[in-house]
Amino acid sequence: MLQGISQIRLTELTGIVREQISRIENGQINPTLETIAKLSIAFNVTLSELMDIPVENNVRESGRFKIKPFVKWAGGKTQILDKIRENIPNNFNTYYEPFLGGGAVLFDLAPKSAVISDSNQELISAFRCFQNRNNYVLLVEELLKHQSKHSEDYYYQIREIDRTPEYKDFKIFSKAARMIYLNKACFNGLYRVNSKGYFNVPSGKYEKVNTYDEKLFENIYEYLSNNKIKIISEDFEKVVESAKQGDFVYFDPPYDTFDEQKNFTAYSKDAFGKDEQARLARVYRELSNKGVYVMLSNHNTELIKELYLGFNIQVIQAKRSINSKATGRGNVEEVVITNY
Ligand SMILES: C[S@@+](CC[C@H](N)C(=O)[O-])C[C@H]1O[C@@H](n2cnc3c(N)ncnc32)[C@H](O)[C@@H]1O
Repeated sequence: MLQGISQIRLTELTGIVREQISRIENGQINPTLETIAKLSIAFNVTLSELMDIPVENNVRESGRFKIKPFVKWAGGKTQILDKIRENIPNNFNTYYEPFLGGGAVLFDLAPKSAVISDSNQELISAFRCFQNRNNYVLLVEELLKHQSKHSEDYYYQIREIDRTPEYKDFKIFSKAARMIYLNKACFNGLYRVNSKGYFNVPSGKYEKVNTYDEKLFENIYEYLSNNKIKIISEDFEKVVESAKQGDFVYFDPPYDTFDEQKNFTAYSKDAFGKDEQARLARVYRELSNKGVYVMLSNHNTELIKELYLGFNIQVIQAKRSINSKATGRGNVEEVVITNY
């Protein structure tokens, strides 16, 4: 049975003899183009769909996956997705998202070919588990274990594991399960590490936590493992080195702050300070000069307006984020900047 149509019915519809259909189905022969064309008519699908050829990254088709982030992430773009969707180019080749976070935009667009990255290695380990069935199954098992054992004490027990020497030898699915569990059980879904790199967010004091949504996880697995999605953990500048004319890069860096008194250097070794915003703007211009479609979101600050002078800057109202020091109540101004 090929996609719900019996071989007899298929013979009637296409005129291709049953034996030949059988051999195609079993992978013993490759069908000719003429046979493929007949099959595509019988199944009412396009040739490229039948042959599974990624023709272009047409994001308009994306909705069918119904996927959304599996972790809560600071700066998540869920609330301004409509604005972002309105502004994406109609057609592009490979999609790049170097500041992936929870992946709200990636999952909404669900492109067939993408390079996604974040400097947070634990987060990237979790995404990678969705590309390997073995790791995926083990991830789910561990998540269910954490969920069933959850308590205030258990949370702190799991949180402290990254301080032990064994942690570095943890398998990828164990690191990923710990990270997802902590994300669901900690205060406000924050990800924060101390100066030594140890996770230090207090417990959210929830009686129960839900670590695993079967339908969502299956759909994410299906999407990340059946498309051409390269998942890496590198600095943003390195990630986009391979972007070419006709590709599309979306930058969602850590926000610039509204506090204009802060000087032009990073506040700590890993912080994304004003100098990092300037480095990003330089990379943005270089990509633009190469003919890459580039989009960036950030706060509407003086620095950002100055750095992206000459590009299309749209100001949008978003709900105020916890850390921003914007003046005014309720809303905070963000910008979506495009070079097209
Ligand atoms: C604002 S968040 C992205 C939010 C995301 N788009 C979402 O919807 O959830 C910024 C991300 O950039 C990452 N990051 C910070 N500095 C980076 C760098 N130099 N290169 C790559 N990623 C970086 C952080 O780990 C963080 O996950």
